[in-house]
Amino acid sequence: MPPSSLEHKLIAALKSREDRLIRRRLSDPDADAGLVDFHTNDYLSLSTSPLLRTRFLSKLQDAPDVLGSGGSRLLVNGHAHTNLEDRLAKFFDSPTALLFNSGLDANVGFFSCIPQPGDVIVCDEYIHASVHDGIRASRVRDAQFSFDHNDLTSLGEMLLKLVNDRAGLRSGENSVFVAVESLYSMDGTIAPLTQIVEILETLFPKGNGYLIVDEAHATGVYGPQGKGLVSLLGLEKRVLARLHTFGKALAGSGAVILTSELIRDYLLNYARSLIYTTALSYPQVISVDCSFDLLENGTAKKLSSHLLKTSSHFVTTLRTLLLTHHIPSHLLSFPPHLAYPPPKNPTPTLTPTFAYLATPIVPVLTSQPRPLSAYLRKLGMNARPITWPTVPKGKDRIRVCLHASNTLEEVERLATAMVNWAEEQIRSQGNTALAKPVGNDLLVQPKL
Ligand SMILES: Cc1ncc(COP(=O)(O)O)c(C=O)c1O
Repeated sequence: MPPSSLEHKLIAALKSREDRLIRRRLSDPDADAGLVDFHTNDYLSLSTSPLLRTRFLSKLQDAPDVLGSGGSRLLVNGHAHTNLEDRLAKFFDSPTALLFNSGLDANVGFFSCIPQPGDVIVCDEYIHASVHDGIRASRVRDAQFSFDHNDLTSLGEMLLKLVNDRAGLRSGENSVFVAVESLYSMDGTIAPLTQIVEILETLFPKGNGYLIVDEAHATGVYGPQGKGLVSLLGLEKRVLARLHTFGKALAGSGAVILTSELIRDYLLNYARSLIYTTALSYPQVISVDCSFDLLENGTAKKLSSHLLKTSSHFVTTLRTLLLTHHIPSHLLSFPPHLAYPPPKNPTPTLTPTFAYLATPIVPVLTSQPRPLSAYLRKLGMNARPITWPTVPKGKDRIRVCLHASNTLEEVERLATAMVNWAEEQIRSQGNTALAKPVGNDLLVQPKL
């Protein structure tokens, strides 16, 4: 049988992706065995922690309920689920906590139902796809705006324009929701949360400007006991909601929204991604509970300290190699926030000190992410290429993810291999590789 009309369209779409080198595929499960992990979100390496494994198996053994969850939270509300929510509300100093099956479900649930007709949502331009999905399903889908990534001037101007244009925002009748990530997943940049809160409080004195912070990548890594950046900055009472996910540094799955009693109640009634789905299974809840044991008892803190030290070492090593080897920036370069060492005395209002924190996510920009990734792979290192549409056009990269299990020697090896690859390109392409205009030695000072 010839392909149907539907099949024709699907095949053409996939072929188009193939032609543009952006077709997605699942990797062979055996292909990554033995490679040094520079790509997973398992930042604390808890997925291979014997301590966590033993604790999990022991708690599972003793748990009254161990299989499934029986249905939606609204149908079957297990003790394990409510106990974990109580624990998380207390741990994160939040009025309440509400579990979701994933961070995607949590963002979709929140943004699809909390903003009301007449309200406005303003997102950082790099906000996660799940926030966009939520907004698309909301009643304010035509009132979404974005500001330049981490740019306080852009955000301030956008909000000021909205206040001037919309009487409802001035009177307090309508609300504005600002959505940011505390640590951005593709860029490893840190949001200036305190300054964003201050802008909102200044421009919306009636209290109708709300901040929602996605802490997916900061969970377990930053703040006291890994509580995240909102907690580190003492902003718990000044944000409307926080999202923490369990699938990254916590080696679990699922997510929690930390918010007020009223918003939790509303989500329970209107968030379809919570209502119409089977709740997290008991083993998932137990595994998350065990990960929080490790956050509370200080184990995670030690792991994150090592992780961040390793990340700084990688950045410093590669930065030096790029400069001393005169690698052209189209072959390899850091984005502006990593291209230079942090200033000795940063001006907090212009470039918040936290912008310079070491992070587990280090993007290395390159016009040839796939060949570079393949080269590293042959040397036993797994660092993945990220291309459009996941990142903007022209910002292709290798996204290096660091982990507690990575050693200083491993990251030195990675940096050296990247530079060796670039030099091989220069040699094989002759002058064309060098001909591109901007080299690492010509980068302008960063705008953070
Ligand atoms: C910033 C951010 N938010 C939310 C999510 C979704 O979380 P989950 O993987 O738990 O669905 C992700 C994961 O990719 C993320 O990077």
